[in-house]
Amino acid sequence: MSAPNKSYDPVEVSALQPAELDKARDAAIAAIAAAADLDGLKAVRLAHAGDRSPLALANREIGALPPQAKAEAGKRVGAARGAVAQALKKRQAELEEERDQRVLVEETVDVTLPWDRAPRGARHPLTTLQERMADVFVAMGFEVAEGPEVEAGWFNFDALNFKPDHPARSMQDTFFVESEESDVVLRTHTSPVQIRSLLSRELPVYVVAPGRTFRTDELDATHAPVFHQLEGLAVDEGLTMADLRGAIDAFVTGMFGGGLKTRFRPSYFPFTEPSAEVDMQCFVCHGASAEPGGEPCRTCSSEGWIELGGCGMVNPRVLVACGIDTGRYSGWAFGLGVERTLMFRHGVEDMHDMVEGDVRFTLPFGMEI
Ligand code: PHE
Repeated sequence: MSAPNKSYDPVEVSALQPAELDKARDAAIAAIAAAADLDGLKAVRLAHAGDRSPLALANREIGALPPQAKAEAGKRVGAARGAVAQALKKRQAELEEERDQRVLVEETVDVTLPWDRAPRGARHPLTTLQERMADVFVAMGFEVAEGPEVEAGWFNFDALNFKPDHPARSMQDTFFVESEESDVVLRTHTSPVQIRSLLSRELPVYVVAPGRTFRTDELDATHAPVFHQLEGLAVDEGLTMADLRGAIDAFVTGMFGGGLKTRFRPSYFPFTEPSAEVDMQCFVCHGASAEPGGEPCRTCSSEGWIELGGCGMVNPRVLVACGIDTGRYSGWAFGLGVERTLMFRHGVEDMHDMVEGDVRFTLPFGMEI
């Protein structure tokens, strides 16, 4: 700032001359108008309205004027600065509006665009059901065991007490890998996993083995050459058929809810003795459809009962084949059909639906785990 000078000479304080002030104001307004965006305007604001701008410097010179000249000079500087401030404000508003419009256009999301062009699949209901069935036993403390789908005949038949001339061994039922003499088969049931578990685990053994099985059946509404079973095996000291029944009851409760009876019917399997077919009361009609005058039931064909699978006490010959002391240990086993369970539990009427792989069949089952 200049020192106060007593003899006022406007020429000396050239920044305050009207022409200079007009020039500074006009330059500022032109620059403001030319600012293309908000960043540009910021620079213009600094140059033309900042502390070191010509008009700010002129303002400071007022202090150096003699008192009588101050008012008029102040008015002129004030008017110029006011005009610049107003132009800045107006341009700021314009540029903000422009920016907002641009952002709205650039960041538009077209909510009508299709998002599901790549169709999503779903896990197959047989897989999820099989896992769910196994889970009921896992909750009771069973472990999940596995075995190969291509199996040695010894595991699939011999160790399970199938005699060499048992009809199930013949070409009628069994897929042989290479020749019948090769004795390598696609496992016809999950029971060979019983043998593998007993040979590889410490006793006591409590396992379930879900898996794919194969038989030479034609595909029709109720048969398929490839199907699934859930095997169960318990070998421990003092096990009886009551324990088997209790485990089956707990399974039925876990899968279908409480209050459903089960029943055993005598049957035969080479690897269990005694053997039984196990049924559960129909979870839809609770047996009422089989009563005189009962409403017909599609789920159990008005039988009142639904067949779950085969079971029994492990034949001591099987335990012996696995080197187990039959004086000390006993066991029980069961085999449940997964396709069968899917059919009656979900009203699936045709096996074809399960094997064709059409997502219109699998999707409605959702993502049940
Ligand atoms: N493996 C038998 C079948 O495929 C089912 C079964 C398993 C029966 C375990 C008894 C015990 O039919």
